[in-house]
Amino acid sequence: MFLLVFTFALLVGCGPFEEVFVEEDLLERPQAKRCSDCHTQIYKEWLRSRHAKAWTSEHFRGESENYTKTKCLPCHAPHQVDPLKKPALRAEFKEDGVSCIACHFKEETRSMHGPLKVWSPPHPSKKDTSYLSSQFCAGCHQETFKEWKRAKVDRTCQSCHMPSLGKKDLIQKFPFYLFHLAKPRTSHEFPTLKVRGEDIRLELRGSSLLFTNTGVPHNLPTADQGNPKLYLITKVTYRDGSTRIVRRIFSPQAKNALPYGTPRVVRLPAGEIEKVEVKIFRKLSWQERKELIKEKELLPAPQ
Ligand code: HEC
Ligand code: HEC
Ligand code: HEC
Ligand code: HEC
Ligand code: HEC
Repeated sequence: MFLLVFTFALLVGCGPFEEVFVEEDLLERPQAKRCSDCHTQIYKEWLRSRHAKAWTSEHFRGESENYTKTKCLPCHAPHQVDPLKKPALRAEFKEDGVSCIACHFKEETRSMHGPLKVWSPPHPSKKDTSYLSSQFCAGCHQETFKEWKRAKVDRTCQSCHMPSLGKKDLIQKFPFYLFHLAKPRTSHEFPTLKVRGEDIRLELRGSSLLFTNTGVPHNLPTADQGNPKLYLITKVTYRDGSTRIVRRIFSPQAKNALPYGTPRVVRLPAGEIEKVEVKIFRKLSWQERKELIKEKELLPAPQ
């Protein structure tokens, strides 16, 4: 290994090792695209994430009144992310949204902070364990973070929304990647995920339908500024053959989203119920259409 590195240093030129490899512009807050010269794979993942669209999203553009509502801008194009602190607005490359530089570059040390201990000649790096805690996300996802704390679970935001990809190369640039071992990688697609049917419990008690989020350790749905919705559509069939449809919408904006572990009660029109057919759909803030997440038929408990 040392021999390889040494030969490489000779090939590239002489001078103090670290300095030869520093690429100064990386510390001048470049565009996210610049990081892809080496971190090609991570960049590709991030491009598919909502964070990459935080500024250019048509919804955001509309609701921030074409970027004139200044209080809306900082979290959608942050300068520097610090745990628990609302960020300041970035001056350059706002179209990158929540970008690599915003999350990883710290003015205080003028280096890239991250969860690992690495040797990274092109730019200084610093191991920083704050990247592993949910508080890292809390400066922007303020409401969701509060809900998550109330849920009192051990799993962090990252463990679900930045799932492990196993050990992989952090960089793809030839020949640099030959000098680094594979390391633990996490998904930079920041997947929104989808609640599993079994994580929503439905129970029929008399003419009340109990509806509980038992699997997602924050409200369902959750949002600070977006407007995601959960739709409950029930078809109640009575012994006399008549039917009634009951619809409910649950959302953070209506302040009736489902907290973790506490049931919401939906009253059905009274009568002798034979069966209740339930369908639950969701629509995320940025989705055009509803999607089905659970379907279930409930029968009244035997008398
Ligand atoms: C600088 C502020 C900021 C930080 C820090 C931040 N986010 Fe976000 N996040 C946003 C914004 C803004 C959006 C919405 C982007 C859009 O859809 O236009 C978002 C969207 C998301 C979404 C997609 C939500 C959806 O509706 O589909 C997930 C998941 C997410 N973030 C997870 C995280 C996690 C996990 C962390 C911590 C590791 C984190 N975020 C840190 C600002 C931030
Ligand atoms: C404290 C940080 C913060 C501020 C300030 C903020 N947002 Fe957001 N915004 C977020 C986060 C985090 C999300 C991700 C989803 C969620 O939690 O709502 C988001 C998501 C959104 C979405 C849904 C995603 C999309 O692209 O469709 C819209 C629209 C939006 N914000 C508009 C606004 C508007 C308008 C304002 C100003 C009134 C604003 N935001 C201010 C953090 C912020
Ligand atoms: C010329 C190549 C190159 C470019 C361009 C580059 N990096 Fe790196 N980066 C590296 C190398 C090499 C490592 C260490 C890899 C390893 O140990 O496997 C690294 C590691 C990192 C780490 C891990 C730090 C830690 O302690 O966990 C972060 C974060 C990082 N880079 C962010 C960035 C960001 C953000 C950009 C764009 C502004 C960028 N890098 C551009 C070469 C580069
Ligand atoms: C919303 C903030 C956020 C953005 C945007 C972001 N990262 Fe990260 N990054 C993190 C967090 C948090 C971790 C630690 C995740 C963990 O280990 O659980 C991380 C981990 C890393 C690592 C260590 C290896 C890994 O996969 O965990 C590298 C390298 C890295 N990021 C580079 C980048 C680059 C390059 C970009 C842009 C293409 C980028 N990050 C965008 C928050 C962010
Ligand atoms: C145990 C896994 C888990 C943890 C921990 C978790 N989430 Fe989620 N999160 C989910 C699932 C599953 C969904 C999808 C819900 C759905 O189907 O709409 C989701 C959805 C979201 C959404 C999209 C809006 C919505 O309700 O659909 C945001 C934003 C979000 N989470 C942010 C966070 C943040 C920030 C944290 C940490 C404070 C966090 N999550 C912790 C599993 C988790």
